[in-house]
Amino acid sequence: MDIKADLTYGGLDVRAIEKRRKDVAGALDRLWSGELHFTGWVNDPHTFTDEMVRELEDTAAEIRGKSDFFVVLGVGGSFMGAKAVIDLLEPVDEKDRTRVIFAGYNFSGRYIQEVKRQIGDSDFSLCVISKSGSTTETLSAYGIFKEMMLEKYGPDETAKRTYVVTEHKSSFLFDQASEEGCRIFDLALDIGGRYSVLTPVGLLPIAVAGIDIEKIMKGARSIADKESFAGDGLDYSIARNLQYEKGKKIEVFEFFDPYFAYFGEWLKQLFGESEGKDGKGLFPASLMFSRDLHSMGQFLQQGTQCFFETFITADEAAADERIPDIAMKPFAGKTIEQINRCAVNGVADAHIKAGIPVIRISVPRVDEEITGELLYYFEIQCGVSALLSGVDPFDQPGVEAYKKEMRSYIEAL
Ligand code: PA5
Repeated sequence: MDIKADLTYGGLDVRAIEKRRKDVAGALDRLWSGELHFTGWVNDPHTFTDEMVRELEDTAAEIRGKSDFFVVLGVGGSFMGAKAVIDLLEPVDEKDRTRVIFAGYNFSGRYIQEVKRQIGDSDFSLCVISKSGSTTETLSAYGIFKEMMLEKYGPDETAKRTYVVTEHKSSFLFDQASEEGCRIFDLALDIGGRYSVLTPVGLLPIAVAGIDIEKIMKGARSIADKESFAGDGLDYSIARNLQYEKGKKIEVFEFFDPYFAYFGEWLKQLFGESEGKDGKGLFPASLMFSRDLHSMGQFLQQGTQCFFETFITADEAAADERIPDIAMKPFAGKTIEQINRCAVNGVADAHIKAGIPVIRISVPRVDEEITGELLYYFEIQCGVSALLSGVDPFDQPGVEAYKKEMRSYIEAL
């Protein structure tokens, strides 16, 4: 495994962690046993065969061949993973590439108009992603972009340019897409939205963006077994639970690279929806450094100590830039990433000296395989962590409450 979790400065007693290792091994067994609902993702890197990956790649090539834009409509687990991976890995040097744009994750008229303006007269295809096939954000946006497509291409071509990812069972989306002859990719019934990035939900948009999904799956597959998480492999899950028991209520994921911003959003959804129930759960937050050191750095250093920090960093940067000699000393002649490294170490030292628990999760670099590992790693840590705290990681009953209230306002319009 390329991922290292360093708990040295987590402020926890090593023996307390060791004592819980039997419990986490039991939780991992439960994830693998099939006794829990919605655990199809656990073995997905193995069951999602190379042939299925190739089918997605062929579809992506077809889409790229006919589209300047691929407009992906989905919300929550139906878009965050793909956006996180594309932000991290999108090739920058490819000319004439198909741009993946996400919509259907908000109710902003201005946002929709801006996406329509960007598409303009260009060719585009649509991807509608919804496990339930009935989500308000996704389906409202679908109506709008479908109308735009019908006006441009007519019904036959619209059906050919519409790609749907949903459960293979009756819903508004599934029924309509089947009737119109759109291409439908199946989201397995036993995989929930926030654990679906390594299925067509994430992989189709990622492949259209020009990222090698075979390598992503290879990375995930390389750690998709119990042995990879044996010994101290689940200490991060234990540490999160121990921090909570010690009174910490917030886990702040901290990044030092703006391309990780959506990875932070994906983590917030994964942990927030999996753990926040029955009056329990760490509130997951994320900060982007160095930007947020100039806004939240003060709070972290001296504010209410209700949180612990989890740094997520790569040892090797994707690119670097030398600061020229004309710049101010002592920065001149150094590289921007050397200074970034000083920021990582400096923040860690200052926060540790202030008594803040700091967990450090690092990877050697960010490439496709390691990204596949990271996605799978956090899904496992999250599932285990939630089971340790005694909640069901795979339901989200609380989400229904606001949906019901919102629906009654919509129906009264
Ligand atoms: O993780 C989840 O289950 C949710 O965040 C869903 O992904 C989100 O609510 C969107 O639902 P759907 O995919 O059914 O449109």
